[in-house]
Amino acid sequence: MSTAQQAGRVLSGMRPTGQLHLGNYHGALRNWVELQYQYPCFFFVADWHALTTGYEDTSKLPEYTQQMVIDWLAAGLNPGVATMFVQSHVPEHAELHLLLSMVTPLSWLERVPTYKDQQAELAEKDLATYGFLGYPLLQSADILLYRPQYVPVGEDQVAHVEITREVARRFNHLFGREAEFEAKAEKAVKELGGRNSSLYRELRRKFQESGDTVALEKARALVQGNSRITVADRDRLLGFLEGTSVAILPEPQVLLTPTPKLPGLDGRKMSKSYANTIGLREEPDSIAKKLKTMQTDPARVRRTDAGDPSKCPVRQLHEVYSDESTRQWVDAGCRSAGIGCLECKKPLIDKIVDDATAMRKRAQEYEDSPELVRNILNEGAEKARDAARETLDDVRRAMHLRGD
Ligand code: TRP
Ligand code: SF4
Repeated sequence: MSTAQQAGRVLSGMRPTGQLHLGNYHGALRNWVELQYQYPCFFFVADWHALTTGYEDTSKLPEYTQQMVIDWLAAGLNPGVATMFVQSHVPEHAELHLLLSMVTPLSWLERVPTYKDQQAELAEKDLATYGFLGYPLLQSADILLYRPQYVPVGEDQVAHVEITREVARRFNHLFGREAEFEAKAEKAVKELGGRNSSLYRELRRKFQESGDTVALEKARALVQGNSRITVADRDRLLGFLEGTSVAILPEPQVLLTPTPKLPGLDGRKMSKSYANTIGLREEPDSIAKKLKTMQTDPARVRRTDAGDPSKCPVRQLHEVYSDESTRQWVDAGCRSAGIGCLECKKPLIDKIVDDATAMRKRAQEYEDSPELVRNILNEGAEKARDAARETLDDVRRAMHLRGD
């Protein structure tokens, strides 16, 4: 029988883009570092995803992967706590992707918002490929393979988790049927024991009659918190809540990453493609030089002109890096022309240089001994494969792809 959703398990991935910048850190990585101490976490390098838009030159992939993982470690991801691995080291991702592709309507993929957007944005590349169309489904396979409860992503990836939920629902509907399911589920309800049985029935009725999702969550918690029932019964009870099948691929939830708006040096969003970034492990001189020339309120031309902090990207960096009293000093000094822009940038330069220096220090041992990174990724891949195989065994069995 299938093992249900892994309570609290977190899964997320990142494309290997080489050295990370402050935007990547505040948009995702910082959050991962916090999550690793709250939940069992799986974090992976989505190298196959990199191929979906960059298949012509793959030569940089090993270096980009290595550099990005060193950034993860430098930022505080702890291999003793979180599982880190590379997608292509776990071929199970490909098998699940293939199997899911058989049941996924083309129209679901065509209507993913990033599909047309990215094709237009990256017009210089030929993205009329099978792989590019299918990449949200590859992401679905990445996720469902680990049966996570949470997928921490930014706003731009929410649609991909949504389609993942739809694919899971469709798969479970097609293949999650078990002979005599209803009878077995009813029996499992009794196993919950007197009060809990009636509470379960009540919550299930509330959800099924009026779509009360609070009731659904309560019922799930009731089932997941019960240690008397078997794993198979727990699955049945979870499946029974929403319908009449077992959830072989449980639906994950988005854990929306709170992302401060991090401007790049030119005031646009910090992004590698705009060449307006500051690296996570950049040298002090280079950080200072970049920040000194960073865009400020364009109306503040001379030192004696008053500025408007709400029109200044430097002020947005203070939002992320400075405390309340510094921000007050900035706002008052800017509006009255009491401080100059270089003065205003000084505390930022200090803080960002400090952070980067700490990260460079932590990265040093991995730069010196690349085999440490290799070992971490090998161990991670083994753990990931163990989890992935469990899911795929259930998937294959449900699809009659093995003899037992
Ligand atoms: N598509 C994601 C991105 O471009 C990366 C990714 C791949 C991912 N597979 C995933 C994120 C699974 C979360 C879960 O950022
Ligand atoms: Fe921006 Fe600071 Fe200059 Fe004001 S003083 S324009 S907030 S850099």
